[in-house]
Amino acid sequence: MNLPNHVTHRYPLGISDLNNLDLFSAGQPHDAFRRLREEAPVFWNPEANGPGFWAITRYADVAQISKNPRLFSNALGGHYISYDSMGITDPEAQNAFLHMLLAMDPPEHNVHRRLIAPAFNPGIVRKFEEGIRRKVRELLDAVAPHGVCDFVTDIATPLPLWTLSELLGVPEADRQDIIKWSNEALALLDPDYFASPEVGQHVFEKMFGYGKRIMALRREHPLDDLTSVMANTRIEGEALPQATLDGFFVLMILAGNETTRNTIAGGMRALTEFPEQWRLLREDPALIPNAVEEMLRYVSAIIYMRRTATEDTEISGQKIRKNDKVVMWYGAANFDPEIFQNPYDFDITRSNARDHLAFGIGQHFCIGSQVARMQIRIMFEELIARFPDMQATGEYRYLRSNHLSGMKSMPVVFSAE
Ligand code: HEM
Repeated sequence: MNLPNHVTHRYPLGISDLNNLDLFSAGQPHDAFRRLREEAPVFWNPEANGPGFWAITRYADVAQISKNPRLFSNALGGHYISYDSMGITDPEAQNAFLHMLLAMDPPEHNVHRRLIAPAFNPGIVRKFEEGIRRKVRELLDAVAPHGVCDFVTDIATPLPLWTLSELLGVPEADRQDIIKWSNEALALLDPDYFASPEVGQHVFEKMFGYGKRIMALRREHPLDDLTSVMANTRIEGEALPQATLDGFFVLMILAGNETTRNTIAGGMRALTEFPEQWRLLREDPALIPNAVEEMLRYVSAIIYMRRTATEDTEISGQKIRKNDKVVMWYGAANFDPEIFQNPYDFDITRSNARDHLAFGIGQHFCIGSQVARMQIRIMFEELIARFPDMQATGEYRYLRSNHLSGMKSMPVVFSAE
């Protein structure tokens, strides 16, 4: 194996390639992550079709990198290891990804983040509470008579899509399209999600087209939604560039959607696999907010985010060269025993559960964190009240991805109403 000459650690043979999706085909590779944390916490991971990247697996290093956007840039190459690895080949889509909030550095990032931040403040977010509860009840009503359902498709998937549509102001009539596109985008990630990966090839084109149409409508008649804010924003008298508007729409749909879905489904799965925790939660629903934090940690729905070094530097004694890709593995950092005692236990009473990095930390900390927390909390409040004996049957089908941790399906059983 040829290593760049600034890689000073010995390549630990036997630690697997984190770009190999097979490693993620049955959930996160906790064993490989544990060995990396212990033996090579700043690990050079070669790439078959790229220059390679640094895999960062310890909590302290992930936090330090995230809090230093000057040294570790998002704008220099975006937040994926490579577009290839995500199946994003369309140049217009790549351009939009490079212009979205997640691909900006300060000071530009601060300006754009301030534009949308008001829509996510706790007061505004609380306005959605009642609607979210109504939607959850409607979803549970639909499965109640059957005593069995697919938790992912019937319960966890529709809720975040509904919430995002409300936030963005997508009219009822168009919501089926959003659901369809978000599934098609998943086909890019995991070809066995659909019969053929071609299904996903034009998905971004369709999303951009829709975004353009709805933003044009909101320019004529602004409403009280996030799309109106973006469509009508001017910076120094200029409207936002089209690629930024395209990127905004896609980022919102992708960032807020599978992440929340997978945390809700992964939470139900964890409660099944740790039945004493499920019992504890049923007996004391006041534990729900802390259980939500533990679900976020335990699921780590976004497995990694990437940065790029802007100059020669060091991470925990390892030399990093300018332009090196630095990939932070939240799925590893959130199980770092330096921070979380008995990290592989799902423990809803964990006193520092909220210290997880599932939403990132620092400059790009998830702007939708409160919306996500509220949806997960309400979902479990309603599930406890309604189906306290719900259990997964153990027939999980995982998403084959090293970026998003999730399941394609998870049958559950419960006492029918
Ligand atoms: C459980 C659910 C969620 C998880 C685990 C999650 C996780 C994350 C992570 C890890 C980041 C990047 C942090 C970084 O690079 O430092 C992020 C950023 C972001 N998230 Fe979330 N997210 C969730 C839900 C949401 C929701 C519901 C929305 C929108 C309604 C949302 C919108 C965003 C946006 C716009 C960014 C980019 C922020 C920036 O660049 O400043 N996310 N999220």
